[in-house]
Amino acid sequence: MHSPHDALLSWFLGPQAENADLFEQLITEALRDHVFWRRNYHPEDGITIRELDKRSVGYEEAVATLTQELMGLLAALKRDVPFFSGRYKGHMAYQQTIASQIGYFAAMLYNPNNVSPEAAPVTTRLEQEVAQQMAEMVGYHRDEAWGHLTSGGTVANFEALWIARNVLYLPVAVAGAAQSLGLDLEVRLPDGSSADIGQLDLSQLLNIANRDVLDLWERSWQMAPREDMARALAQHSLATAGYQDYGRRLAAEYGDALPDSVVLVAATAHYSWEKIVRALGIGSNQLMYVPVDGNYRMDSEALWDRLEALHARRAPVLACISVCGTTEESAVDRLDRVLEVRARAGQELGMTFHVHSDACYGGYAASVTRGPSGVRRTGQEIRDALVDCNSVSVSMDASFDVAVCPDEGVARLVVDADVLHEFAT
Ligand SMILES: Cc1ncc(COP(=O)(O)O)c(C=O)c1O
Repeated sequence: MHSPHDALLSWFLGPQAENADLFEQLITEALRDHVFWRRNYHPEDGITIRELDKRSVGYEEAVATLTQELMGLLAALKRDVPFFSGRYKGHMAYQQTIASQIGYFAAMLYNPNNVSPEAAPVTTRLEQEVAQQMAEMVGYHRDEAWGHLTSGGTVANFEALWIARNVLYLPVAVAGAAQSLGLDLEVRLPDGSSADIGQLDLSQLLNIANRDVLDLWERSWQMAPREDMARALAQHSLATAGYQDYGRRLAAEYGDALPDSVVLVAATAHYSWEKIVRALGIGSNQLMYVPVDGNYRMDSEALWDRLEALHARRAPVLACISVCGTTEESAVDRLDRVLEVRARAGQELGMTFHVHSDACYGGYAASVTRGPSGVRRTGQEIRDALVDCNSVSVSMDASFDVAVCPDEGVARLVVDADVLHEFAT
């Protein structure tokens, strides 16, 4: 009988490079495969770099420089902390798997620019496959979710807030477009009632649930020729006008300069959130920290208090960021309680907002809580599976974060790439 531990021993280069032979063999395999492909691609093209060229002084000097510089780089890289070592626990940089390192190397040989389906047809397809696997891991249906690989957690979070902002302001753009084109459009409010979009004040327009915004968006395209609607929406969108002009315009059109919209984050949130609100032009003054409880989880009562205070001064909430695996404490917010508070705010205050779970660090824990079929394991099943270990830590390689977030609205939003494209521009 084999144990999962046996397979695990083949996954990493190893603290003493125990799997060096395997690693070298696979790197060589990838390189040779690529070399043969080149040689067999139009062999009639002939030779560009001839053997005699390689004996020229200029060539030899260039190779000497290259080799010397590599030696220098290898020496310099060793003046670092040993991230590979199990002795080192200072930062979130651990061993990468051989699979990811070989995959990285091989893909780089074929196409290092994974930019769009036209320029990178193979790697973008693979990227979509990974995004589907990740979506499935966090509990979405693979065919209904959309995600993509980002350079890291900061960018994944940045995109989520960027999308949240575009969704928040979309009803304002649709109301403007409906007025310009003379259209009547009904929209659902957080308390479940419906109203004509032209009758809503600014505060109501900025408090429509994501799924209702998306319904509105889909219906609006059916109300007018596509080009007319696209032009009218662009004329009234924040993305076109920019914050300063938009604020001025809204104050003039609605006679009502609402306070700036706020981003609520758990007090334990990663420092990248401050960078993100600054970069998006939201401003760090609008980043509001919610206290945490004794287990470092967002305190849902404190969240409610913040919402009541914001409601009293009519400040819209752009998003609430809950953390699944805090960077310092590994605490997992009670997302269910955050969602309960949002539902209550919808009913009692007529307020709603985007909920984003920053699972950059803790997202992979979902691979423990779900079985291969995607069905959630019970607490007992997880304990049974973990019973033989002495300690457990689950972490994500931060360089392969995915911009998906477990909010029902966004899961629908990212249903197809065209839709995402509209919101992410
Ligand atoms: C919870 C959380 N969010 C976001 C980030 C930012 O990720 P990155 O450093 O890859 O940009 C981190 C990184 O530690 C994190 O722990």
